[in-house]
Amino acid sequence: ARTAAVIPAAGRGVRLGPGAPKALRTLNGTPMLIHAVRAMAASRHVSLVVVVAPSDGETEVKSLLDEYEHALPERTEFLVVPGGDTRQESVKLGLDALPEDITAVLVHDAARPLVPVDTVDAVVEAVRGGAVAVVPALPLSDTVKQVEPRKDGAPELVVATPERALLRAVQTPQGFDRALLVHAHETVPGTEEGATDCAGMVERLGRPVVVVPGHEEAFKVTRPLDLVLAEAVLARRRA
Ligand code: C5P
Repeated sequence: ARTAAVIPAAGRGVRLGPGAPKALRTLNGTPMLIHAVRAMAASRHVSLVVVVAPSDGETEVKSLLDEYEHALPERTEFLVVPGGDTRQESVKLGLDALPEDITAVLVHDAARPLVPVDTVDAVVEAVRGGAVAVVPALPLSDTVKQVEPRKDGAPELVVATPERALLRAVQTPQGFDRALLVHAHETVPGTEEGATDCAGMVERLGRPVVVVPGHEEAFKVTRPLDLVLAEAVLARRRA
């Protein structure tokens, strides 16, 4: 029984502004992807990390891992595979590369480079304890509204306000029983954009998804301001 982490890192990151693919942009001089790989390898439970690279960036990602080999634990094995057009396809390609003896899988966004090892461990431990699907999540500070999109630039209309206390912002790594996640990817159809999280596919199968506490530092680097915050978090860790 071994645990692997699949890191989808094939996104272009257009919301960050122009530049390299998101995972290859640097935070305090180190590519975001390397931070994310390190965060997974930091868990003693994780023995294999599969990086899903941009389809034209496989070689670049491989040489990046070689370059940072000294900063990664020796006990961890690494694989690099090319990604697909959506996150969902990229995750599927990562799952296809897993060896037989992997029984539990974490799926972690390269875009969440600073997740603390305690959060990773909590997810793995919940899966090993028998949960088939686990998500780290935090309560929301903003009130969330559901809107109705309208055509021709007319202002959106608010249609509902879900009770905030019952909502959670979901992070990664999400943890799964390997067989169940593979089954979900084989049976749940993809939308044009693909699923934005793997747990949603498990929910569609009617299987239980449990929540463990997430962490503020597991935030997703999406917009330019997130880069500023990420570098500040790193600076504070070094201080
Ligand atoms: O775009 P978003 O921030 O939701 O992407 C989440 C994660 O999925 C990122 O780590 C991104 O690199 C990855 N992704 C991928 N393949 C795609 C699109 C996104 O691996 N085609």
